[in-house]
Amino acid sequence: MTSSAVPAGRNAALLTWFKANARDLPWRQNKDPYTVLVSEVMLQQTQVERVIPKFEAFVNHWPTVGDLAQARTDDLLRLWSGLGYNSRVLRLRDAATSVVDSGWPTTIQGLMQLPGVGAYTAAAVGSISFGMDVPATDTNLRRVLSRWAGESLADATLDEYSAGVIGSPAGDWNQALMDLGSVVCTVREPNCGDCPVREWCADPAVYEPPPRQSSFEGSHRQLRGALLRAHLASIDLNEVGHALGRSDQETAETIASLETEGLIESSSS
Ligand code: ADE
Repeated sequence: MTSSAVPAGRNAALLTWFKANARDLPWRQNKDPYTVLVSEVMLQQTQVERVIPKFEAFVNHWPTVGDLAQARTDDLLRLWSGLGYNSRVLRLRDAATSVVDSGWPTTIQGLMQLPGVGAYTAAAVGSISFGMDVPATDTNLRRVLSRWAGESLADATLDEYSAGVIGSPAGDWNQALMDLGSVVCTVREPNCGDCPVREWCADPAVYEPPPRQSSFEGSHRQLRGALLRAHLASIDLNEVGHALGRSDQETAETIASLETEGLIESSSS
């Protein structure tokens, strides 16, 4: 069991640090659930630096949830190009359609019913935009909280610990931990000298090895991305497969699955 009293002062120190050091990120300019959702979906698999220009272009092009619900598939995929995992943007449009039809959900469970919104994204949007009292536990939060607790937390122990230590407002607390995890409490060699909460940290040496990233070169994801870009540029898809040294079978199967997922409309070869 990992429950322990919340040390007095830790959340106050964390939130004071956040006020002074919060990263100036474009999705933090307001708490509009639409722009927060767009940013969180983009950030699901893509690093902050690469998301920033895409986020700005996206919300310029589709400034409201109603605009996104009406967006054309080709336009969405073109703008999303470079972020990867392209079906995310089609599910994001489905989520926009649901919001236009039924309004924003008012509970975490309701947010999780939106296409493409899992527990983490629901908690991020729920806490930042709607003031819901929930921890948004991604890998950064898990690492920081594990160090606070002095043991590697996961699943039930992580849920229990985070529910016990969450600060208020939860949206600020979550984003403070995201920033702390990104710039101070990093995976390797955390910079404890700069940490605002070091006096309440049980064990900075609790180490969370990052999951191994499979090589992008030669991967299925590489082929999918290349085929999608070729489709948008009206380039022969089979030639792209050949250029990447892929078999006709792999290329054909990948084109078929992109069609099934609605990412490309018909094989243009
Ligand atoms: N990563 C995921 N969500 C984020 C946010 N709101 N701010 C910074 N990094 C994030």
